[in-house]
Amino acid sequence: MKLITEGNINSYYLQTLCMLFFPRAKFSNTETITTDTPVAIVKVSEDDSTAYAEASVTMGERTVLKYHSEAFCAAEPRKNTVSTAASKALFFALCEFCKYNPPWGILTGVRPTKLAIDRISEGMTKEQVVKSLRADYLLYPKKAILAADIARFESKIIKNYTDKDCSLYISIPFCPSRCAYCSFVSYTTKKLLSLIPEYLSAMKEEIRHTAALIKELGMNLSTIYVGGGTPSTLDEKQLEDLLSLVDSCFDTKALQEYTYEAGRADTINAEKLRICRDHNVTRVSVNPQSLCDAVLENVGRKHTVKQFYDAYELAAASGINHINTDLIIGLPGDNFGTYSSTIEKIVELAPDNITAHTFAAKKSSELTVAGSNVFTDDYRDLAKCVDYTQIITKNAGYIPYYMYRQKNSAGNLENVGFCKKGTECIYNILMMEEVHTIFAVGAGAVTKFTRDKGEFIERVFNPKYPYEYLAQNREEEYKKLSEKAHAFFD
Ligand SMILES: C[S@@+](CC[C@H](N)C(=O)[O-])C[C@H]1O[C@@H](n2cnc3c(N)ncnc32)[C@H](O)[C@@H]1O
Ligand code: SF4
Repeated sequence: MKLITEGNINSYYLQTLCMLFFPRAKFSNTETITTDTPVAIVKVSEDDSTAYAEASVTMGERTVLKYHSEAFCAAEPRKNTVSTAASKALFFALCEFCKYNPPWGILTGVRPTKLAIDRISEGMTKEQVVKSLRADYLLYPKKAILAADIARFESKIIKNYTDKDCSLYISIPFCPSRCAYCSFVSYTTKKLLSLIPEYLSAMKEEIRHTAALIKELGMNLSTIYVGGGTPSTLDEKQLEDLLSLVDSCFDTKALQEYTYEAGRADTINAEKLRICRDHNVTRVSVNPQSLCDAVLENVGRKHTVKQFYDAYELAAASGINHINTDLIIGLPGDNFGTYSSTIEKIVELAPDNITAHTFAAKKSSELTVAGSNVFTDDYRDLAKCVDYTQIITKNAGYIPYYMYRQKNSAGNLENVGFCKKGTECIYNILMMEEVHTIFAVGAGAVTKFTRDKGEFIERVFNPKYPYEYLAQNREEEYKKLSEKAHAFFD
C-alpha cells in the first residue's frame, strides 16, 4: 500500500488506520503502483480557527474522496486537532472505499476503557461517556456502551486501592509445546525446559528481595498473579517449592486474590491443584481456547476437548474458589458454527470467569512467520462471534469486567473478561488500567510503579528470555530496582 501525506501529520498513525482495512498492508515509498495497489493521499491545512483535511483512496480506476474539518479548541493542542481531522477524513474515505465500518472507529489503542475512565472521573454520566466516545472516535454505539459499562465497573474497584497497595506478578515462561498462534516468550524444547530448576532458584531469590522491598516501602500486597507461558508446566515438587517460598515471604491468607494461571489441560492434575489450594491460591485458569478438536489440532494445541473437561472437573473439585477459562475467537479453522457451540458449552459449564480473546496475528507466531493467510477476510463472521459471546454471557448472568485490545487483532476486535457477580479478577483490572503498582519477577516480567491513580508511571523491565535473566548479575539488578523504587515513592 502507498500512503502519501502533505502537511504537518504523523503518518505512522495513519498507516495503523489503513491496516484496519488492509490488514496485511506493507508501506513503502519505492513500491511501483499497479492497479492492485491501494493508494491513500492525505492533505491537511489550517487557519486560525479550523483544521481541514482531504483524504482520497484509489485503486486502479476507483477513487473515493472525503473532506473533514475540526475546530481548534483551547483544551486540545493544535497538532492533535489537525491529526484528528486527518484521521477522520482518511477513515471516512477508507470506510466507503472498502464498504466496511470498523466497530472501534479510529480508536487503535490497547486500552479503550482508559478513555472512558478519564471521562467518568471528569464527572460524565454513562450517556455522556458514550456520546463523547462516539463523537471523538467514531465507535459503534454498542462498543461505546461496552467501554462505558466496563469503565464504570472498574472505577468502583479501582477506588478501593491507594498508592500504598501493590500486587506481585510471577513469570513462568515455559510451555510443554508451542501453539502455532502464540508469540508469548516461552521455552518449549527439552533443552530449554531443563533450565527450569536454575530459573526457579534465581526467581525465588528475586521474590525474597521483592518481599523485602515491599516491606521497606511500607506497602501492602493485595494480589498475586502467577502467569505464563504455562505455569502448570512445573512439576509437583517445583510447584510446592515455589509456592512454599511465596508463603514464607507473604501472608498469602490475607491476599484478596491469588491466581495461578495453570493453563493447558495436559499439564494439570489433581496433585498440582491440591498444592495450589493448600498454598491459598483462590483462582486458577483452565483454558480450552476452543471446544472443537479439529480447531485445536489445526493450531497445534496439543490437548483434546476431553482433556479440557477432565482438567476442568479436577479444578472444580479442588476447593479452589474461582475458575477462569480462556477462549480465542477467530482461530484459523474456526467459524461461527464451531465457535458458537464452544461458547454455549462453556456457559453451560458455568466457570466464574470467561475470557474471550479475539485472535491476533502475532508477528513471531508460527502461523505468521509461515506466512499463512490466517485472517478470514469476512469480519462479519468474527464480529458475529464477538457479539454472540456478549449476548450469551449476559443472558447467563455474566458481567463484562475488563477489556483490552491487541495489535493486529482480527477485525480490530476486543478481548473481554466476563465474570459472575463478585468474582472479577482484581489483578486484571488494576493491571490493565495502570493505576496500581505491580512488582514483577522472572524473565519477561515488567515491574510498574504507579502514583496518583496512574498519573505517574515508571516501568522496570527484566530481560525477556530465561537465559538472559540467568546471565544477569541479579544482585546488581535488585540494587537498581530498590534505588528506583525509593526515588519514585519516597
Ligand atoms: C499467557 S497466554 C496462555 C496461558 C496458557 N499457556 C494457555 O495457553 O492456556 C494467555 C491467553 O492469551 C490468549 N492468546 C494467546 N495467543 C493469542 C493470539 N495470538 N490471539 C489471541 N489470543 C491469544 C489465549 O487465550 C491464552 O490463554
Ligand atoms: S497459548 Fe499457552 S500453551 Fe500455547 S504456546 Fe502460548 S503460552 Fe504456551
